[in-house]
Amino acid sequence: MRCVEIVATSGIEGLRLAERPTPKVGPRQVLVRIHAASLNYRDAMILSGGYVRGVSLPRIPLSDGAGEIVEVGAEVTRVKVGDRVCGTFFQRWITGPVFPEIQEAALGGTAEGVLTEYALLESDGVVRFPEHLSFIEAATLPCAGLTAWHGLFEAGGLKAGDTALFLGTGGVSVLGMQLARAAGARAIITSSSDEKLARAKKLGASDTINYVGNPHWAATVREITGGRGVDCVLEVAGGASTKGALEALRNGGHMAIIGGRSGPGGELDRRFVLQKGLRVTGINVGSRAMFEAMNRAITVAGLHPVVDRTYELKDAVAAYRDFQSGKHFGKIVITL
Ligand SMILES: NC(=O)c1ccc[n+]([C@@H]2O[C@H](COP(=O)([O-])OP(=O)(O)OC[C@H]3O[C@@H](n4cnc5c(N)ncnc54)[C@H](OP(=O)(O)O)[C@@H]3O)[C@@H](O)[C@H]2O)c1
Repeated sequence: MRCVEIVATSGIEGLRLAERPTPKVGPRQVLVRIHAASLNYRDAMILSGGYVRGVSLPRIPLSDGAGEIVEVGAEVTRVKVGDRVCGTFFQRWITGPVFPEIQEAALGGTAEGVLTEYALLESDGVVRFPEHLSFIEAATLPCAGLTAWHGLFEAGGLKAGDTALFLGTGGVSVLGMQLARAAGARAIITSSSDEKLARAKKLGASDTINYVGNPHWAATVREITGGRGVDCVLEVAGGASTKGALEALRNGGHMAIIGGRSGPGGELDRRFVLQKGLRVTGINVGSRAMFEAMNRAITVAGLHPVVDRTYELKDAVAAYRDFQSGKHFGKIVITL
């Protein structure tokens, strides 16, 4: 089978196209013919050696793939050949809290990923995706989509009439904005690009702010909400943005700590948390149960995730380069 391998975590030159034997299915495993896989910031971090959890090489990269089951193990009853599925980011996280042993099997990191024609997955580690989605659209869901869902609804408790804040127009933020709007919430989104903000507006953003042109964006968020502040923020940026996100929240609001897209750091000022009675949750993508709940919401809403650009497998390096440039809006997907 054709696949991509990371052979060195020294940057883009550590990627290569490879051939491997198609894996043999164990009793509780499934073989999935992957048709599309999407890039996340974690994948760029892994490639540059900046990821905290150990990755042994060579490793097939990417956590987010969608495909069709072509073979099931002898003991598998949960899914069947022909099902259109996504792999779950953590292959063993079905429900409940994220225990350390769950984190040990993460696709494209501690476990082989999905940038391959055939991926061997746990039968418990796949989820049927909504019927109205293409493979390309479904490939955006396992990490970016589920992280946004977890932060907004499972941890944040977002509901109709609430206001959510999204920082930047990357994969997590754009899908988060779509999910929030579908749930009847107001969505404020920031970006360094007016062009991207115009796209966000077309997609349903209630309000947009250029965080470069307006360094006081947090104060603007408070103004937009009549001084109340937002109910939820997906904190994907880190660095100085964390302070702004804390400022933008209403009393009793929820911060989902997700990432450090603008760099390391991002101190959580305990005084802010205490005085405003904030709720804070560290997000680790999400469980299979959360993924299934998100899929039900996507189905009811008829939501289509935003795919900015697609590449073929042979152009995987170009896809990574494009992703690293940060020019994308939403997701970049590789087709197989
Ligand atoms: N904890 C988890 O489970 C989890 C899951 C998924 C992702 N993450 C993390 O979440 C972060 C976002 O992931 P992603 O895949 O959505 O990344 P992404 O697609 O690469 O996001 C790129 C966007 O981030 C925005 N950005 C950069 N610096 C910013 C700043 N100072 N303020 C606001 N926005 C800024 C930019 O938006 P504009 O171009 O519009 O300015 C950029 O285009 C990453 O750090 C990732 O590792 C964590």
